[in-house]
Amino acid sequence: MEPLLLPHIHNYHKIDVYESRGGYQMLRKALSMKPDEVTDEVKKSGLRGRGGACFPTGLKWSFMPKQTDKPKYLCVNGDESEPGTFKDRQIFEYNPHLLIEGILIASYAMGVHTAYLYVRGEYNHWIKLVQKAVDDAVAKGYLGQNILGSGFTLNLYLHRGAGAYICGEESSLMNSLEGERGYPRVKPPFPAQFGLWGCPTTINNVETIANVPIILQMGAEAYSKIGAPKHPGPILVGVSGHVNKPGVYEMPTGVPLTEIIEKYAGGVTGGKTIKAVIPGGSSTMVLRGEALAGVTMDFEGLKAAGSSVGTAGLIVMDDETDLIRVITRITAFYHHESCGQCTPCREGTGWMHKLLKRFETYEATAEDIDLLLDVANNIEGNTVCALGDAAAWPVQSFIRQFREEFEKRVAPRSAAREPETLSATA
Ligand SMILES: Cc1cc2nc3c(=O)[nH]c(=O)nc-3n(C[C@H](O)[C@H](O)[C@H](O)COP(=O)(O)O)c2cc1C
Repeated sequence: MEPLLLPHIHNYHKIDVYESRGGYQMLRKALSMKPDEVTDEVKKSGLRGRGGACFPTGLKWSFMPKQTDKPKYLCVNGDESEPGTFKDRQIFEYNPHLLIEGILIASYAMGVHTAYLYVRGEYNHWIKLVQKAVDDAVAKGYLGQNILGSGFTLNLYLHRGAGAYICGEESSLMNSLEGERGYPRVKPPFPAQFGLWGCPTTINNVETIANVPIILQMGAEAYSKIGAPKHPGPILVGVSGHVNKPGVYEMPTGVPLTEIIEKYAGGVTGGKTIKAVIPGGSSTMVLRGEALAGVTMDFEGLKAAGSSVGTAGLIVMDDETDLIRVITRITAFYHHESCGQCTPCREGTGWMHKLLKRFETYEATAEDIDLLLDVANNIEGNTVCALGDAAAWPVQSFIRQFREEFEKRVAPRSAAREPETLSATA
């Protein structure tokens, strides 16, 4: 497949080069259509969100009310803080105008006149690059009042995060934009009814929105035939860990994980075997290396394998990896990033981390394995947002898939301390 999101064209990030290759023509096309026709085209394409949950994008857009006195908003989520995920920044760097064109088309389809692009605070370099692209688009009349003489207006503002993973969760992102603390909101009401400042709002990931001009360019029908039928289109897969060529690779959905590792990422370093992979960023469930045959990078393929696509951040671990250290480190991240609003997440992530450290130092008891699982099970589904699930799933799946690794780290009976209750302070 020819790359569509990250085409290999020199200086494509520059507006003149982008325009010379047909850039912003799909905006013109969209402006000549009725807004609902644009949404229908996105629906027909089968595009699913690339921000983690694979939610159908056209359907999400159709939840925005048509008749309302309130302003409507689009928030584009570029917070990208999940460990193992680093694909949106490639769009910021190499194809920012595709993103801006997508924001314009999506805004037109939903009747939005103000859009926000929320960018991870640590992305200093990329924030500068995207701001330059926005300024150039304003200077050329693609953003602002009466765009291309159509009467359509869109103002696009870049908002810089402040280094909190929780602000990638859509309702915290809106609170953060409002200047409030980044606490997730209870749903319902959903953002399409009560979003930014209580107004109808849609939140989409950067890569999702970058797919929109591609859909208009090739037509929904042709787009829907790329890759996996129930999760079509190009996808950016970030490969990290023990591979020879880590990086972000564009491919159709539905490519087998083994092919991604061997063909795209150059195989496992030192020719070792794979012990484990995390397929979609640190919150997705781990898979055993020997169970990868036939598993594909798409919604259905990974669901059948007991995991999920998430944000397609594939982490490869070779046969010498200390998986207890890995899961302890992942859990430390979620403990640190828990916003503290919900007790199961605030306390439970710390308890899980504390228990895991016992395994790391060979001080755990055999009972600690089930205690750890119990803590994870009590976080899952019991919090306002999915950060709790994101912390529980890796722990649950590491135990389910690699129980023997935990058993090996149990202290010899004589040395084991008496089972104790966990204190509230982690
Ligand atoms: C803790 C947490 C962090 C998240 N971080 C991101 C993020 O950095 N980027 C993103 O697009 N979605 C993130 N999401 C998912 C968003 O809440 C939301 O589902 C997504 O932006 C919707 O976009 P999509 O429909 O285009 O996939 C996060 C969710 C949770 C629970």
